[in-house]
Amino acid sequence: MDAQAVRRHTPGIDGRQVFLDSAGSSLPPQVVLDTVTGHVRREAEIGGYRAAGERAEDLEAVRSSVAALLNAAPETISLTDSATRSWLDFVSAVKFRPGDRVLVTEVEYHSNALQFLHSGIPFDVIPGDTDGALDLAALDRMLDGQVAMVSLVHVPTNSGLVNPVREVVELAHARGALVLLDACQSAGQLVLDSAALGVDGLTGTGRKWLRGPRGNGFLYVRPEIADRLRPAVVDGHSAQWVSERELRLHEDGRRFELWEYDVAARLGLGAAVDYLIELGPEQVEQAVRARAERLRTGLSTLGGVTVRDPGRDRCGIVTFTVDGVAPADVRTALAHHDVTVTTSGRGSAMIDMDRRGIDAVTRASPHYFVSDDELDRAVASVAEIADGRRH
Ligand SMILES: Cc1ncc(COP(=O)(O)O)c(C=O)c1O
Repeated sequence: MDAQAVRRHTPGIDGRQVFLDSAGSSLPPQVVLDTVTGHVRREAEIGGYRAAGERAEDLEAVRSSVAALLNAAPETISLTDSATRSWLDFVSAVKFRPGDRVLVTEVEYHSNALQFLHSGIPFDVIPGDTDGALDLAALDRMLDGQVAMVSLVHVPTNSGLVNPVREVVELAHARGALVLLDACQSAGQLVLDSAALGVDGLTGTGRKWLRGPRGNGFLYVRPEIADRLRPAVVDGHSAQWVSERELRLHEDGRRFELWEYDVAARLGLGAAVDYLIELGPEQVEQAVRARAERLRTGLSTLGGVTVRDPGRDRCGIVTFTVDGVAPADVRTALAHHDVTVTTSGRGSAMIDMDRRGIDAVTRASPHYFVSDDELDRAVASVAEIADGRRH
């Protein structure tokens, strides 16, 4: 990867700021910014409908780009407005029977757990192994005929852990359970091959590691299970009104889409995905992992700083705490050093945080466009904050 070129393509890189929040909402490349602002300007000139008409082919190509990234067919992709919306679309379309339950991992994301609670779908938690990843032997024991679905968070919101996927799919499918992969934090930083993974559903968002604009996401549904899902809501885009008392759902991914959406953001998502494909997802994964490891190594040498990432397989999310300084205060102090990070609180992944006895962590998530020098500056800033506390 041409590190200088990707930095030149990123207007948010200004030589001062160290940007470490791609797990929150990343910095888009220039092409994404131009695509979005260009379309908003065009809407102001000729109206939204004509502007969308001019880009009809490009808009359809967004589906194909997302499909190509996931090694899937375009018909399997629905374009939505967030990862959560995609996840809710899938879960609310599953025909759960009385007595069914789902299995979740210890790192289940709060919105997912909340929806199970809200809709009265019982869930059990697959315990983690000694390294924190889900315990495959425990999963094997828990999969009885009543488990309809495994809700699998690939990479959690609150640590650099990567959960195994293929192994979970093999166990779950052998007992007739679906697997829904929450790939919100892996899409754009790790290679995602839906065919190789074998998952039944996969959800992602544009603004994080994919470097797209806000307000968009996507859902992949494995074609073999598509007719087992019935969308909970439809409109004139997802279904056809064929006669007064009859509707016909579209057979492709449009079933989960609604007619109205942010056209500029969708075009921006397409530009972001094309940019990633051009760079090469394998190269991106390698670069992200290397930067995160450098950051972890740097932080772990500091007195009063604890790196909090569990797992054998760790990705681009780096979490840590500083003795005696609340994670939110670390974030604020780092902002004064022009280092952008965020925090993850107990509420966002409660099962995992309670198991590890942590209330909150500071979260740094360097993308491939962050230089070694910037990572070292971030470590030096954390050192200053930790030292300030100790002296
Ligand atoms: C693991 C995980 N799943 C799902 C989501 C939700 O994504 P969105 O805000 O795009 O709905 C997040 C957001 O941070 C996340 O970290």
